[in-house]
Amino acid sequence: MELKDKNILVTGGAGFIPSHLVDLAVEKGGNVTALDNLKDGKIENLEVSKDKIHFKKIDVRDFDKVKRIIKEKEIEIVFHFAANANVPYSVEDPKYDFETNALGTCNVLKSCLDNDVEKIIYASSAAVYGEPEYTPIDEKHSLNPISPYGASKLAGEKLGFAYYYTYGIPFVSMRIFNTYGPRQPRYVMFDFLKKLRNNPHKLEVLGTGEQIRDYCYVSDTTKAFILAAENENAVGKSFNIAGGNPISIKELAELMIRILRLEGNTEIYYTGKSWEGDIVRLVANVNKIKSELRFRPKVELKDGILRLKEWFESSDTNKKIKNSTENIRLNGGKVI
Ligand SMILES: NC(=O)c1ccc[n+]([C@@H]2O[C@H](COP(=O)([O-])OP(=O)(O)OC[C@H]3O[C@@H](n4cnc5c(N)ncnc54)[C@H](O)[C@@H]3O)[C@@H](O)[C@H]2O)c1
Repeated sequence: MELKDKNILVTGGAGFIPSHLVDLAVEKGGNVTALDNLKDGKIENLEVSKDKIHFKKIDVRDFDKVKRIIKEKEIEIVFHFAANANVPYSVEDPKYDFETNALGTCNVLKSCLDNDVEKIIYASSAAVYGEPEYTPIDEKHSLNPISPYGASKLAGEKLGFAYYYTYGIPFVSMRIFNTYGPRQPRYVMFDFLKKLRNNPHKLEVLGTGEQIRDYCYVSDTTKAFILAAENENAVGKSFNIAGGNPISIKELAELMIRILRLEGNTEIYYTGKSWEGDIVRLVANVNKIKSELRFRPKVELKDGILRLKEWFESSDTNKKIKNSTENIRLNGGKVI
């Protein structure tokens, strides 16, 4: 399915990944509408495309408004990202998390069904797998989420497939591992940049640094979503999205220090024992998305970090955000 001239809705459109998807969908010639309740998203994230899209402040917990916008704009494709995307916050407020991620997804699905939407691409998460039984994790891995966030994202995904099986509404689930890039105001990379700006001589790393993550630059992640929208064979399936180049947090810290040209000046300090429930090795098997959707991540980690650094230095977002280390510690330091 070509995106050109399609009426596209991006839920959570003012957020980090979804705002990049908005930009890409506009580039592809889509007529884009974005909705967001602006709880975590920012209108500034839509700066690039603001003159070419419609934006509505809508909360996905409000079924009538979601249904109305889909009808009014004659939406044909929905990229559903609106969610609490913050694991620690799901621990703090599991009710908001479930009402948005699970019930909000139910509202989006029902609104799509009532308005004959042609396809829904859902932003799921590696958190649906829970503690890995083996790595790299493929899509057949068991689904045992351990956080309220993982549970609510899984509920949304399962409901999407139930709509597909019951009503035939085309649904695809994209299980994102760790995506990074400009406009992301939290998690490890942002945290390192923030700490190094505050004190270039010392970088505190939570845990032992041995945790392994599989990062994907945001433009590669959004391309994967477009591939899922364009490819008819994606319907009814789940796909992992990751860069396919695992790196330890220790290596990441060292790389960041080299990129910032702080080598020899910065001492890395590990807090030691890893936090309870921390997933040590979160690595994806991306064979399925590579073979079935021809997904080819392009941005190397070093280049991606450079772009993140440029954004960090040029934006004043970092000054406005509450110390994200505090947020991370709230849940004992879990990274999505
Ligand atoms: N960033 C990652 O690495 C990652 C990993 C796994 C999954 N995901 C998923 O990708 C999606 C986007 O994540 P992100 O990192 O860009 O987060 P984000 O917080 O920047 O984006 C989510 C957006 O949803 C909006 N939102 C929250 N509650 C809402 C509500 N009730 N109604 C309407 N809008 C609401 C927020 O304001 C925000 O703009 C989420 O669904 C998240 O679960 C992200």
